[in-house]
Amino acid sequence: MIKTDISALLPFIPEGIEPWLEKAGEAASRLKDEKAFAGWLHLPSGTSRELLDAVNAAAAKIRGESQILLVIGIGGSYLGARAALELLRPTFGRDGEPEVIFAGNNLSGQYAAELLAYLEDKDFSINVISKSGTTTEPAVAFRIFYRLLEKKYGEGAPGRVYATTDANRGALRMMAEKAGFTRFVIPDDVGGRYSVLTPVGLLPIAAAGIDINAMMDGAKAAEAEYLRNSADNSARLYAAARQALYAKGKKVETLSFWEPRFRFLGEWWKQLFGESEGKEGLGIFPASLELTADLHSMGQYMQQGERMLFETMLYSAPSKTVAIPFDEANSDGLNYISGRDIDYVNRTALEATARAHADGGVPCIRLDMPAVTAASVGNLFYFFEVSCAISAYISGVYPFDQPGVEAYKKNMFAMLGKK
Ligand code: PA5
Repeated sequence: MIKTDISALLPFIPEGIEPWLEKAGEAASRLKDEKAFAGWLHLPSGTSRELLDAVNAAAAKIRGESQILLVIGIGGSYLGARAALELLRPTFGRDGEPEVIFAGNNLSGQYAAELLAYLEDKDFSINVISKSGTTTEPAVAFRIFYRLLEKKYGEGAPGRVYATTDANRGALRMMAEKAGFTRFVIPDDVGGRYSVLTPVGLLPIAAAGIDINAMMDGAKAAEAEYLRNSADNSARLYAAARQALYAKGKKVETLSFWEPRFRFLGEWWKQLFGESEGKEGLGIFPASLELTADLHSMGQYMQQGERMLFETMLYSAPSKTVAIPFDEANSDGLNYISGRDIDYVNRTALEATARAHADGGVPCIRLDMPAVTAASVGNLFYFFEVSCAISAYISGVYPFDQPGVEAYKKNMFAMLGKK
């Protein structure tokens, strides 16, 4: 389970956390009453064994015939999978494992051209993911890369496409049926940014060789824990603490993590919270910091810039480390920490940073995650989803729509001359 520690926050919230926990309890009741978009709430306990088997079977086929899986999707249709892959796969050297490449999350010709050239002489499959089935970026990418797939495999091309989309609606749904792609469904009542535990996330994650059954088991434990009606529910505590700080003018939250492999978890988290809360002129602006790297870029601002920030430090002890060697000459002066492992220094940096930021007026919420495994990552996804929905309800906004996303599309389509 994720543990939330708000002990360093109390000087910033003189009224205490109790009134905010009460609001979190009321928000959790509203969440239970949600009808249109509450499908994600019971995905962990409600996903059938048959669906997991079908996803695992498709993943095994992809792994059997492709060096590369091209995952085409944007926003909630790719960030969760990318986060899980970065967290759970080794950073270097993945011999024998298929490479997973993400496309359709930008409109860069440079990216597309380089990727086309890279794929030219490789065996690949495509997982195209779009809930609406009409989003421009993935649609453009799919058109381009499916052309290459057809060129390489002719009539075999449709057999290498896995389309994850709405059950009944959208252009992708129609194309999939016509061409005979393997289809997976994003349930109607699960919004894009809450869809990582549907085939949206599960298929690419399984194709990368990660145990999705274990991930769902971790999420199932999370479902039982974080929907529990109790003041020591750590998801509620996190939501309550965020809103208590927001009410004190802390309008920016940085999710700070201490391992490079959390970078895309940060991206996923930003979308989840940004799209759920940023509306009606309200919302905490979600930012992320990769530490210690960003202490050397954003550290100055964090310490002495405008005091509208609070920080959420997410820490998970690593499973591997390296000891700092002793050096006779000691020319770099590092012998005072020789024999220590790097993570001892990392952990010390965390404590030092938390203390310095608190002294500088930046309140810090601490989230402790158990060792990074498929199960704990499933648990973490669910933890943030529940906290996010509760936090949005406390601030008085509806967490499950994103009307503002349409504004740029409207302008772009008009300028491109779309009928
Ligand atoms: O959270 C959301 O619903 C959105 O951000 C979507 O994930 C994103 O716009 C992609 O949409 P789609 O899956 O329909 O292509």
